Amino acid sequence: MFKKLSALLVALLSSVAVAQSDYPNRPIAWVVPFAAGGPTDALARSIADVTSKQLGQYIIVENTPGAGGTIEATKVARATPDGYTFLVGYMGYMGAAPALYKKLEYNPVTDFEATFRFPDTPLVLMARNDHPAKNVKELYDYAKKNPDQVFMGNAGLGSSSHFIAALVANAAGADVKHVPYKGAGLALIDVVGGQIDGMYDQTNTAFPQITEKRVRALAVTSKTRLPQLKDVPTLNETILSGFEASTWYGIYAPKGAPKVAIEKVQNAFLQAMKDKAYADKLQSQAIQLLPEQQYLGSSLAKHTEAEVVRWRAVAAKSNLAMD
Ligand code: MLT
Repeated sequence: MFKKLSALLVALLSSVAVAQSDYPNRPIAWVVPFAAGGPTDALARSIADVTSKQLGQYIIVENTPGAGGTIEATKVARATPDGYTFLVGYMGYMGAAPALYKKLEYNPVTDFEATFRFPDTPLVLMARNDHPAKNVKELYDYAKKNPDQVFMGNAGLGSSSHFIAALVANAAGADVKHVPYKGAGLALIDVVGGQIDGMYDQTNTAFPQITEKRVRALAVTSKTRLPQLKDVPTLNETILSGFEASTWYGIYAPKGAPKVAIEKVQNAFLQAMKDKAYADKLQSQAIQLLPEQQYLGSSLAKHTEAEVVRWRAVAAKSNLAMD
């Protein structure tokens, strides 16, 4: 009897080992909970492309926007943890959301396996070309004189384009109107078209519009000026001394996903980042490369935990909580 059982166990274990060693044997889904064409989508597609080449398997990016990403984060938290579904997470729904939403159906720390972190991306404050404010100070002075008359687009409640705009307006003592879209790409179309006054957008999607002079860049959220936008001041040097913000992203699997899947996906990304031409391409968009250690899933797990704590403190001070 004992012999039979152990033979069965060995057979079972080896079939699991085979299944794990040929991972991934079908396409993998990465869920982006924002509309296509925005900064998260653009960066995720670029990283999916280089990671999938290393993995030897397709990574399909799915865009399913809504509620600042919290609906899809909930779905991925509940998805089968088979190593074939991942969430493209970021500082909004994986960092700030527990502080911003009174009811949240997932826990960014305990419901996911942090897989790897992307490089970070700073943001640019842009205004429509025909707005009377010609610089960042003038924009916030205008907003102070005209409460609720500056319409700022964002990628939904609790997105980084929303809470960075809210934090800056609070700190500047200005009342602006926040206009939510299903993704920053859609908001940017309306800044270009002049339907809204401005927005904070990540550099990778902001740069082409700035270069083509379809919008006016007023300030960057990095601590120091960006080499690609030398004439654009920081918020730090103009209206908000000490201010610095950039968006962080990472890949997460549902809790319980096979270790082999997490490691293979993480290692494929690490390998892709060794390609200097690719790293240079990211840097040309002002995307900030990190030391390799910080890309690891283990570092992302710690970072997520720290961000949840940090945003609770920020939200408590700034009264940012939402229903
Ligand atoms: C944001 O926080 O604004 C985003 O990056 C959203 C997006 O990619 O659409």
